[in-house]
Formats: sequence, structure tokens, C-alpha cells
Amino acid sequence: MKSISQVVQSTPASGIRRFFDIVSAMEDVLSLGVGEPDFDTPWRVREACIYSLERGRTHYTSNYGTIELRRAISDYLMRREGVEYNPENQILVTVGVSEGMDLAMRAIMNPGDEIIVPEPCFVSYKPCVMFAGGTPVPIPSYAEDGFAVKPEQIRSAITDKTKAVLIGYPSNPTGAIASRETLEEIVRIASEHDLYIISDEIYDRLTYDGKHTCVPTLPGAYERTILLNGFSKAYAMTGWRIGYAAASPEIIEHMMKIHQYTMMCAPIMAQVGALEALQSGDHDSDEMIEQYAQRRRVIVKGLNDAGLDCLMPGGAFYVFPSIKRTGLTSDEFCERLLFEERVATVPGNAFGECGEGHIRCSYATSLDRISQAVERIARFVAGL
Ligand SMILES: Cc1ncc(COP(=O)(O)O)c(C=O)c1O
Repeated sequence: MKSISQVVQSTPASGIRRFFDIVSAMEDVLSLGVGEPDFDTPWRVREACIYSLERGRTHYTSNYGTIELRRAISDYLMRREGVEYNPENQILVTVGVSEGMDLAMRAIMNPGDEIIVPEPCFVSYKPCVMFAGGTPVPIPSYAEDGFAVKPEQIRSAITDKTKAVLIGYPSNPTGAIASRETLEEIVRIASEHDLYIISDEIYDRLTYDGKHTCVPTLPGAYERTILLNGFSKAYAMTGWRIGYAAASPEIIEHMMKIHQYTMMCAPIMAQVGALEALQSGDHDSDEMIEQYAQRRRVIVKGLNDAGLDCLMPGGAFYVFPSIKRTGLTSDEFCERLLFEERVATVPGNAFGECGEGHIRCSYATSLDRISQAVERIARFVAGL
């Protein structure tokens, strides 16, 4: 047999997956591992989808997505962020942010191009760059700086092959948000060097202290930014696989070209659900966010009391405490915690080398389970 793609072979399997294969074979595990809301999709969204199926809406849609959904996305972005995207040619409905990310990379990159990626970051970012023929250039960030990327590090990483900077705030896995000043500086650097900015804002609504900064609203950012967002987190719609990209007509046209040949369109049922979420789901979303905010305080206090230094995250639903004091590596800590106390977390190195010495805990689970998990973590740490 001929060998399979070298790029794919050289990409390690997701550190999260490997761990969860072990977890799925175990019983009675308290999981702080998965990055997915514990809430079910709001009933009104499910109902809208059921009703549309009953009426036989089971066909392909426009490659761009239904015009109703694109208009609703455009209205949402204007209402919430004051940023204008023409629903006719500046919005593409995608199969989650995951597909939007892949399309963005493939639309802008030539073989060998470099993309700067601040770490720790979402596990898919670097593989997506590589699958599109590019080279990810990671930039580390550390707890001492609140996991904020330093724009100067981005500047020093730029070469004549750099094509874009890929950022995602609020961050998975650290929960960090980037200040407006930091983002403005990143945009300035991108403008000076004529780089694209890919901004994954999937956790935009899950910002607890102050208002989210939407990157394309910053001076000089609009033309060069590909904004990615979706419904998985804010509306508890992970399994629906629905998201969108917003950018200049030229970029959207090129992303659409790939989408048209590879995906055709996002599933119509999911588009119907997403439309309903935008039209009437804000209240449901706000209620979930209130719950996350409460859980965030409980988990941060619990982990600090247990002896793990843990910053208060500004957004998303993750904390990224340091386990350095225990003398264990991230892998050792997570494995032992799982086998000895049946609590699942994710080793910080799954999100980049600079994540070593940390673990990711998701608080998208009930307060009761969080309290029990934190008690077990405290017992585990005390017993080391
Ligand atoms: C930062 C980030 N971006 C993108 C995704 C993927 O989102 P979607 O479900 O819309 O594909 C996730 C999912 O965990 C995420 O955390």
C-alpha cells in the first residue's frame, strides 16, 4: 500500500481524545473534561426544528446558508457589536466554527505560509494550519501575565512567510480574555505587515467581566479580519454543528468556493435551529451564562483552597490552574487524578507546550458535581 499523507501522519491525535477514550471505559467518573455545555439546547430551538421537519424542510439550501439566517446573523452582529456585514455576500454559514476555521485557512494560505498562533490554544488550531499546507508558529503565554499574549512577541515572530495571526478570546483552555489595548496593538501589527487576522469568537457571549471586544470593530481591523462564531457554546448547540464566518466579500467568496465543493451547505435543520436561537434564544443563553458565572467562582475558590494556583478567568467555561507545586507533570497529574479519585481533567500540554504544568477543568457541569470534583481534587493533592 502507498503511504498516507505525511502531514496527517505527523499530526498527533488530539490530547483530549486520547484521554477521553480512557474515561469512556470507566464508571463513576466526575468529568471536568469536556468543553461542552451540560445544558440541552433550549426547547424553543428544538421545537422550531421539529416543526420545520414536519413541514418537509429537508432540502439543500443556498451554499451560503439560508438568507433568513444570514440576515439574522447580520442583525445580531450589528445589534450586539455595531459591525456591519452584508448578508448577501459577507456571511457564510458553516458546519460549526470548526469548518469555518478550516475554510479560512485554506482560503488564504499557500504552501509554506506561516500563521502565528498564541498558545495555549484550542487543540484544532495548529492541525488546521498544517492540513491547509501551512506552518503554525506558536507564541507562548504564561499565567504570570494572565495568559495574555504579548503583541511584541507576535511582532518578533513575523517573517516574510507570515500570512495571518490566529487568535481566540475568550480562550479555550485558559478562559483568558485579551484587553482592548492588546487587541488594538495586534491589529496595528497586522496592518503594518499586511497580515490577515482570524478571530475565533465562539465564546463572545461568555464574557463575565466587562464587554467582549469584537476584533473587526477595532480601527483598521475590518478588512483584514475573518470573524468566526457559532452556536455551540452560547446556545448549547454543540451537536447541531452550526456556525458562521463574516469577512470581506472577497474572502467570503473564496471560502464559499471550498465549502461549495466539499460541504455544499450546512444542514438545513441546524440552520432553522440557529435562526430560532438568534431570534428568541437570548434569554435562554443569558440564563446559562449566569449559571456559568456562579460556577466559575465556586471552582476557582475550590481549586485555590485545594492548593492549586488558579486565576479567575474572564470568559468561556474553563479554568487552567497550575499543578507545578505538586511536582507532577500535567499527564501524571491527570492520569493519577483519574485513576485514584475518578475526576477527569485535561493535561495542559494538550493545548501547547507552554500549557505544561497546568490542567484544564471545564465548569460546564452542575454546581453539585463541581463541588464534589473539587473535594476529590483537594483530597488527591493533600495525599501527594
Ligand atoms: C475555541 C474554540 N473554537 C472552536 C470550537 C469548535 O466549535 P464548533 O462546535 O462550532 O465547531 C471550540 C469547541 O470546543 C472551541 O473551544
